Amino acid sequence: MTVREAVRGHETRRSALQDMLALTERPGIISFALGLPATELLPADCIAEAATKVLRDEPYALQYRPPTRDLKECVVNLMAQRGVACGVEQICITSGAQQGLSLLSHLLLRVGRRVLVEDLTYTGLLQAIDPFCPAIRTVPAAYAEGIDVEAVERELGSGSLPAFMYVMTDGHNPLGSCLSATTRASLAELARQYRVPIVEDDAYGFLRYDSQGLPPIRALEQDWVFYVGSFSKILAPSLRVGWLVVPEELTSRLSAIKEALDINTMTFAQRVVTVYLRSGRLVPHLATLREEYRKRRDTMLCSLRQHFPPEACWATPGAGVFVWVELPEGYDASKLLKEALATAQVAFLPAEAFAASTRLARRNGMRLNFSGCTLDQIEEGVARLGHVLRSHVETLAAD
Ligand SMILES: Cc1ncc(COP(=O)(O)O)c(C=O)c1O
Repeated sequence: MTVREAVRGHETRRSALQDMLALTERPGIISFALGLPATELLPADCIAEAATKVLRDEPYALQYRPPTRDLKECVVNLMAQRGVACGVEQICITSGAQQGLSLLSHLLLRVGRRVLVEDLTYTGLLQAIDPFCPAIRTVPAAYAEGIDVEAVERELGSGSLPAFMYVMTDGHNPLGSCLSATTRASLAELARQYRVPIVEDDAYGFLRYDSQGLPPIRALEQDWVFYVGSFSKILAPSLRVGWLVVPEELTSRLSAIKEALDINTMTFAQRVVTVYLRSGRLVPHLATLREEYRKRRDTMLCSLRQHFPPEACWATPGAGVFVWVELPEGYDASKLLKEALATAQVAFLPAEAFAASTRLARRNGMRLNFSGCTLDQIEEGVARLGHVLRSHVETLAAD
């Protein structure tokens, strides 16, 4: 038996994002493909200052160490800004939101059980649940309203309950949607009624553009909502620091699972984030991010109106970093991507990349990221895409 045969078994799916990451490094490409924060807005100087202070004053920062209480206290304050009341005992520090999703999958899932997700969802969640070979059940989601609550209710009422349902309340990835107050309340009520946990991924919840926004579902339900937060989009993704807010009685089980995965979130990164947060710099930094990303979003929307055919539809995302564009029915966004890369050097991700099931009916959607490009790149990239769309109408139709 070869080593390849020996390790053959269940394979975790590969996300289209990793391939795109390599592709976007190619010179000349304008990429709307990934959800990267703007590199030029990462607060490198402040992080350097915090890192220097940590290395000078906290020798244990390079040592094995349990999560420190003061980062949890900072997270509790941050959650209060989102309208969520919680205590340090309910916080687990994670190595990013992605690990938060993995930890919760380990906690909540057993092999073969059901998980309820939207038909277009964050691929990282699918990767996190993959090792448990779950039965994935889907409900439709739309770019304007988000998850179809009536479909959730039908699904929950239909018999075998899922181990959890996964939702993104604000700045949905890939759809850009933010849930209404009514939808949040209905989901909280359904979780209580059916005793099904909601895994609420709020990776983009602090990036609201047009108003203060609504509190996440966790603010409405403490026991059945497991909240996933992250510093990746609001501070720096490479620090790999995130958090969970969960019922207090589950935190020790989660720390045991985490210990098996990576022992602990890098203490040095935790300390740098703590010093940064305590310096009071996050609030002005968030204001800068919101202002700059709002400009980028509006430039993208304006360019879409100018260059895309009138049959294409989209909504204004109130949060997050993505605009979801729906092409007329019958168009295949995967074909458009190939065409756009070959002839216009523009990248984005097509609906297919976010399909929770292989039976995805809608192939006509495209996710465009606006946080990672300059205003000029956004105008130029959308103009090029619009040109490809208009000049290849016949070839882009699905078979
Ligand atoms: C919806 C969503 N959840 C989780 C993550 C992972 O974030 P992190 O870098 O904190 O692991 C991402 C990253 O893009 C995301 O879009």
